[in-house]
Amino acid sequence: MMDGSSRNAPKPGHDIRGVPVSYAHPDALEGLERALEMSLAFRGDAVGEIDRVLAEHPDFLMGWLFKAGWLTQAMETRIYGEMVAALAEAEKRAGMANERERLHMAAVRAWVRGDFFGAVQEWEKALVLHPRDLLALELVHLTDVLLGDVAGQRDAVARVFTLWDEGVPGYEFVLGFYSFGLEENRDFALAEEMGRQALCIRPDNPYAVHAVSHVMEMNGRQAGGIRFMREHEARWGSSNFANHLWWHTALFHLDIEEAERVMAIYDAHLNSEGKAGDRYEELDAAALLWRLNLCGVDVGARWRHLADKWEPAAQDTLYAFNDVHAMMAFAADDRQAAQTALLTANERYVESASDANVAMSREIGMPFCLAIRDFQKGAYGACVDRLLPVRYMTHRLGGSFAQRDVIGWTLLESALRAKRFDLALGLANERAMLKPTSAQNWRAVARAFRGLGDRGRADRAEAKADSLIAG
Ligand SMILES: [Fe+2]
Repeated sequence: MMDGSSRNAPKPGHDIRGVPVSYAHPDALEGLERALEMSLAFRGDAVGEIDRVLAEHPDFLMGWLFKAGWLTQAMETRIYGEMVAALAEAEKRAGMANERERLHMAAVRAWVRGDFFGAVQEWEKALVLHPRDLLALELVHLTDVLLGDVAGQRDAVARVFTLWDEGVPGYEFVLGFYSFGLEENRDFALAEEMGRQALCIRPDNPYAVHAVSHVMEMNGRQAGGIRFMREHEARWGSSNFANHLWWHTALFHLDIEEAERVMAIYDAHLNSEGKAGDRYEELDAAALLWRLNLCGVDVGARWRHLADKWEPAAQDTLYAFNDVHAMMAFAADDRQAAQTALLTANERYVESASDANVAMSREIGMPFCLAIRDFQKGAYGACVDRLLPVRYMTHRLGGSFAQRDVIGWTLLESALRAKRFDLALGLANERAMLKPTSAQNWRAVARAFRGLGDRGRADRAEAKADSLIAG
């Protein structure tokens, strides 16, 4: 736990990890620790907490930088003003900044310019100077996830790892970051070990639960994954990360063809009808409904409510990863005007802007948005042609392998529906080899063989799927 009271008292002018802070009033530093812990543990209201501290200590520069830095991660235009205002407050006090704080300020400034990669570079510099700068590490790691820098998610933690141990407050969160970074780089055994170590220190750590659930997802351990989530649910169920962990739980059920259970999870935990919710929750909701769509499941009016949530952001062009999920909702709910607004805004944006999101939008976001539209109107061949050339570049869209898997799955389903069975067989084989415990992967293999007229192999693949379900 990040309780400084049980550790050595911090040196004057430093936080509890020995990182220098220009404004070092003990109450302000304690307040920042509380807010930082809320962000790391996905609990409470980190921004509200730091606001209370800043009301008492308006010259607490690192407090403003925490607020601005943490708000970068929201990736929502409706949050942007608050982030820019916090940066402006920090800049007013730039004269008092130490070197670390100047780097944090430069990072948020780069972010506001749209230079997300530049922001990571600045936070990285702070981390190289102060390997126990937990805020810098958090922001580098989470931004690497947003930007799809797969190796960076692992290596940013590796670079500082030997400087941390259980004696340093917040070590359990470092383990959680490392676990996720290792998992995304397919080092599953070490990822699981790190994640479970993090949970030994602090069972109430949704990010570590998340990393282990990713390992189980990639390994195709559906029954174990469902059990693991159930065992830990009491601790993550009320966290700010709960919806995403429910999404992961639903994926395990989807893999073993329990669509009813998936819908029940959606209705109980992901349906944001009548709730405020945030963009991240709406993203998971769209991602889950689209998967059900690929399975041919009728989800009733659920898309309508979700498309209502996405519609005000149709022309945001802030983050391609958001746009593709908005597009799923617009296409599935047949909202022509919203689809056109989103595509037109993106076309204008990629022609005129030069920020980091332009490349993400041009290379992956736009092709996938168009592919979603094609899929929904039954132009499956066109959908295949859009996705085939980009399928191995999709990490540039950001998110995790599990999230981006929806692209490969959409491609396969399109190939099957377009009756391009030779291609579909290759794609289905690929998925079945990658995750042989997934019944739905073997059903796809069977459908492709059936399309090719090979009844024997189709029946064998079907039997394989049946045996997985029976087991
Ligand atoms: Fe995830």
